[in-house]
Amino acid sequence: MSGPARFRRVWPGAAMALCAAALAAGNAIAQDGVRTIVLPPDGVLLRPSSLPGYAKALDHCVACHSAEYFQYQPPSAPRGYWEAMVKRMRTVFKAPVDEADVPDIVDYLVKTYGAEQPR
Ligand code: HEC
Repeated sequence: MSGPARFRRVWPGAAMALCAAALAAGNAIAQDGVRTIVLPPDGVLLRPSSLPGYAKALDHCVACHSAEYFQYQPPSAPRGYWEAMVKRMRTVFKAPVDEADVPDIVDYLVKTYGAEQPR
């Protein structure tokens, strides 16, 4: 409490001037309408593939989040890891994925982001 109070007592004029300057600057920015907003990296696209699971993943796996999440999975992750992941998306988050599409999607994921990538 002592800091701001002393500041006000000793420099009332300077404090007022600073406030006025800050307000003026704020207005200038608002009037120009120019703002730079840096968003976190999102909108990462799925890596294209000729595997049938690619189209299915496009349909079912990037509605809630971008493909960024896939990039951050361990590249050594085996097939079972991706199976568990797709299962978790379905059961926990109710991802609308048909049971019949799961093997293709898992195949695409493990070959594109996991342990079965061509190296
Ligand atoms: C209904 C929404 C929804 C759909 C559809 C969905 N996900 Fe997710 N996914 C989430 C949410 C929410 C998280 C964040 C979970 C967390 O932070 O624990 C997530 C996180 C992830 C992650 C990051 C790792 C992790 O454990 O958090 C991966 C990988 C992933 N999803 C893969 C998939 C795949 C593959 C599909 C398609 C089969 C899919 N998701 C479809 C909601 C969804």
